[in-house]
Amino acid sequence: MKLLVTGGAGFIGSNFIHYMLEAQKDVQILNFDCLTYAGNLANLSQLSSHPRYTFMRGDITTGRDVERGMSQGIDAVINFAAETHVDRSILDSTVFVRTNIEGTHLLLEVCRKKKVTRFIQVSTDEVYGSLGETGKFTEESPLAPNSPYAASKAAADLLIRAYHKTYGMDVMVTRCSNNYGPYQFPEKLLPLMILNALENKPLPVYGDGLHRRDWIHVKDHCRALHRVLMEGRPGRVYNIGSDQERQNLEMVEQILALLEKSPELIQFVKDRPGHDRRYAIDATRLRRELSWKPQISLSEGLAQTVRWYQENALWVSHVRNGTYLEHYKKTYENRDQTLKDL
Ligand code: NAD
Ligand code: DAU
Repeated sequence: MKLLVTGGAGFIGSNFIHYMLEAQKDVQILNFDCLTYAGNLANLSQLSSHPRYTFMRGDITTGRDVERGMSQGIDAVINFAAETHVDRSILDSTVFVRTNIEGTHLLLEVCRKKKVTRFIQVSTDEVYGSLGETGKFTEESPLAPNSPYAASKAAADLLIRAYHKTYGMDVMVTRCSNNYGPYQFPEKLLPLMILNALENKPLPVYGDGLHRRDWIHVKDHCRALHRVLMEGRPGRVYNIGSDQERQNLEMVEQILALLEKSPELIQFVKDRPGHDRRYAIDATRLRRELSWKPQISLSEGLAQTVRWYQENALWVSHVRNGTYLEHYKKTYENRDQTLKDL
């Protein structure tokens, strides 16, 4: 199977590529990523000479790039490429609309033209909005996004639905809860808190810190995506979550305890506008229909993740000082030139 993975240099995409090359021995992967600030080829450095892995620098909002990415007989597409940080979307949502909506639309159009029908859209539980004290999101919960990021993802989900209904394309949407694990960019809660704690810097907790998220290890998410890719039903939405709901403050306190740092590092700061209070996912459909279940407990996964950031000081320092951007952009300038000439 030839699989086009868009956004494969980001956090979940790179974990997915590592996982799939191990789990599915007949898969060939083309990683298609334009390398925004969130794309880091160091996440995949061990694969540079892997016989079933290729990288192509390309943008999902550019027709020529997408056509090029799909010119070599692709069997399926899994779309991770997106702008993903809620706080950035609050400051300026322009690129979120372009990448998350227009980019997804362009991918669907090129797939339709080239008759690549199997398409997985990696979406998020944030499209459902916020929950009260009880209950969980099911696939039937109404879409009620509250941030520009979430709205852009919800819009893309609706395009996927329309392409299934109108053109009969074999497309599916997955909606997962908050991921954690190796290679996550330190703008997101967990890596930011781990790295700040390691450097004895303040840990900025928004509002009262009692917002709740449903945490899943990225490897369990990758296993679920593998199941959906191989056996998912066309037109279906699948929730992905592992029933490990925690308050933000609890997560931060656990990180401090694992690193043996003082809770005095916690600093309560101004809340995020439109901040969703609670997410919780009902993943019964995925468990029943595709026999998936999470394998990594939060206590084990969190300890592993904290250790990963401690043991990967070079990765961390390149990400923290921005040198990863310069290095990889230079490395791929020549290759881009070659591709333009094709
Ligand atoms: P990320 O921000 O770490 O990575 C995004 C990747 O997409 C980067 O490599 C970036 O270079 C690439 N990209 C951005 N714009 C692009 C474009 N125009 N063309 C090509 N590539 C582009 O994101 P992530 O946290 O790994 O999330 C991946 C996907 O999973 C996203 O679609 C996100 O909405 C979804 N998701 C994330 C989470 C989470 O907790 N992180 C949970 C559920 C769903
Ligand atoms: O639920 C899935 C979503 O999870 C994904 O779709 C998004 O791409 C991903 O970024 C994530 O969104 P969140 O907004 O939940 O993640 P974030 O790490 O930004 O924040 C997690 C919680 O921690 C949230 O309640 C806000 C809070 N927070 C975050 C940061 C960065 C803080 O209190 N302080 C911080 O500095």
